Amino acid sequence: MPDVSSLRAALLDWYDAHARTLPWRAPPGSDARTEPYRVWLSEVMLQQTTVPHAAPYFERFTTRWPTVGDLAAVEDAELMAAWAGLGYYARARNLLACARTVASDHGGVFPDSEAALLALPGVGAYTAAAVAAIAFDRPANVVDGNVERVMSRLFALEAPLPAARPELKRLAALFVSEDRPGDWPQALMDLGSGVCRPKSPSCELCPLAFGCGGLKTGEPARYPLKTTKAERPHRLGYAFVLRDVEGRVGLVRRPDKGLLGGMVGLPTSDWSATPVFEAPVAADWTSAGAVEHVFTHFSLTLTVHVGQARDCGRDGDFLWTHADAALASLPTVFRKALERGLAA
Ligand code: ADE
Repeated sequence: MPDVSSLRAALLDWYDAHARTLPWRAPPGSDARTEPYRVWLSEVMLQQTTVPHAAPYFERFTTRWPTVGDLAAVEDAELMAAWAGLGYYARARNLLACARTVASDHGGVFPDSEAALLALPGVGAYTAAAVAAIAFDRPANVVDGNVERVMSRLFALEAPLPAARPELKRLAALFVSEDRPGDWPQALMDLGSGVCRPKSPSCELCPLAFGCGGLKTGEPARYPLKTTKAERPHRLGYAFVLRDVEGRVGLVRRPDKGLLGGMVGLPTSDWSATPVFEAPVAADWTSAGAVEHVFTHFSLTLTVHVGQARDCGRDGDFLWTHADAALASLPTVFRKALERGLAA
């Protein structure tokens, strides 16, 4: 069993020298803490995407809406458009619900305990722990995929994910301490993303190598073990790019419930094994080829069809949007389809 306190000290020393500079981060060891709003926003964004992808969104959001009160006042549609490209759109709706609750029930000030954070809409165990630790310097057990990987390697845990999750959480909790509680999870995250990487860990650079059970086995990258997943099903569909002579495209708002709920998108058929080619209006539709997209629960081939609107920009069933604006604000799957349609 690795010695927890020497591992902890070694990783914090490493973090002091190697911490990434991130827009939502206070430097290691600093007494200044990042505002809870910025920590919360960054954590919600980072749950679904990488640091390089999230960073420009974070900068845009915090420039446009510098406080949680500013974010709370945004219209749903505006927020959804700004979130486009980050994926998991239910999270954007939760983000707004949480901002509004903080504004209305907490006077615009985030609560400072893990339990009170957990009671906010859309804030789960991970986010509550991360905000409590990083923004308020509270000892909290922050466990994401990076932390699970580091723990499974340190302890050479043979139990596979996802069943091993509670055990990994218990192991991670051994390191939670009153000493630098805010820096600790960030140090683990930086180690997980830069050194203890999923496929090719750089064990020669790792400050924890001296106590790593996985490294001792000679096959650290074998951890964490995973129960083999059922294959993702594949679906097919048609997407329709309806253009007018002024460079606009006809978009539709999707129903609130379901995948990409409440987002603006291209009109499409159903997405299934045998989709029905049902165009939104009569036009001379021509195929522009297909695009691929992978969602969490299925992959999709969308065949893109392009048509010219007869009634320039006046068909009331559509949200007519200039193609450039549409490319900037559509969810990724529709952006890909629109790019394909415009190139045809
Ligand atoms: N990934 C998730 N949260 C993070 C954070 N606060 N810093 C760096 N990477 C992260």
